[in-house]
This record gives sequence, structure tokens and C-alpha cells, in this order.
Amino acid sequence: MISERETAIRNLIAEIDSYLGRFEGPGVADVRTGIARWRDGPIRDVEPARIRQTGHIDTALDWMDKEGDRRLAGAIRRAMPYLEWQAYDPYPRELIGDTYAENHCMASLIGEAGPVGATDFDLGLFGFGPDILYRDHKHAAPEMYAPLTAPHGWRFGSGAALDWRSSFQPVWNEAWAPHAFRSGPIPFFCFFGWTRDVNIPAEMIFEPDWAEIERQSAPA
Ligand SMILES: [Fe+2]
Repeated sequence: MISERETAIRNLIAEIDSYLGRFEGPGVADVRTGIARWRDGPIRDVEPARIRQTGHIDTALDWMDKEGDRRLAGAIRRAMPYLEWQAYDPYPRELIGDTYAENHCMASLIGEAGPVGATDFDLGLFGFGPDILYRDHKHAAPEMYAPLTAPHGWRFGSGAALDWRSSFQPVWNEAWAPHAFRSGPIPFFCFFGWTRDVNIPAEMIFEPDWAEIERQSAPA
């Protein structure tokens, strides 16, 4: 018999795939190829866990019920009891900053980490609290973020102002492309897809204007 856990996770992956099917931008096909390749494999046998920061995800889901994609919110809520939430923490604390380090969390859904250079894959949920900058960073894995809350402000290079966005349009980062993004009054929440090299740790890129960007709030 198929367990509720397996049904909930497989349903969530199907909902993520159909959400992505609405878009045609860069990376969409890559992430859907990864989903197609991994979705029928065994569901990960994880130890379900919440951490304090998972409260930001609850807030984001409440927002989605009112202003976001209600169907996807429902699929995520159904899977919540079976997810292992954890911090992703490869960064030196003095660079990433205490606020981000202590207020983000992620839960991987499907995929598998392989050796360097492998076409491995990771699909998961990720979020962090309100009014927080995820400072400039880069990684080997080409990456899709599909934001499920808004607004969120982005930049893709040194010294740029944040580009505040309200749409749910996915963001695609090529391998090692720098990116930074900031939440507004609502926690940032997304699903992400890493389409290769998922085992190579991300790296911070020091930028002298972090304090200034962290003081700015989202445009009203
Ligand atoms: Fe990233």
C-alpha cells in the first residue's frame, strides 16, 4: 500500500512540475528533465524535522493561501509533516551574516548528489524570513529559483541596485553566476532546482554595500 507520505511527496512533485509547465524561460526544460528523471525513483527516506526557521515557511504558506498559488500551497502543506527542514550552511558566518544564517531553511524533495561533474539533481523547497538579504553568492550548480511569495529584490552582479519583482517568474542562474536577493515584508519562499554538480559547495562573494542594501526596504 502506498503511504500518505509517499502520496503527499509525489503529489507535490507533480504540482511543482505542472506549475513549471506554465513557463518557457531559461532553465525550465532543464529542471523538468531532472524531475522526469528522478520522480519515479524511491521517495527519500528522511527523518521529518522542523527547525525554528520553518515558522517562516508557515507564514509564507498563509500568504500563498491569500495572494499566491493556493493549489501549490495545499500540496506543500500536505507534504509538510514528512519533510526534513534544515539549514544550508557552507558559508563563513562573518560573510553570510547572523540574520540570514539563523533565519533560512530548506528541504530537499528528490534528486541525488553525485561526483563532481556528474549530472546529478536536487529539487527542494527553500525560504527565509522577511526583510533579509541573501548576500551575493555563486555555485557550480546551475539553479532555478521559482519564487512563490512576493515581492523579492534581485541583483546579478557587483554593486547593482536590487531589481524588485512581484511576478512569480522563475529565475535561472547559470553555473557560477553571481546572485543576491532580498525578501520584503513577507518571507521569501520558493522551490529550487539544481541541475548538476549539487555536491560542490556554494561560495560567498564579498560586496562592500551589503549593509546599505540591508537597510533599504521593499518599495511600497
Ligand atoms: Fe543560489
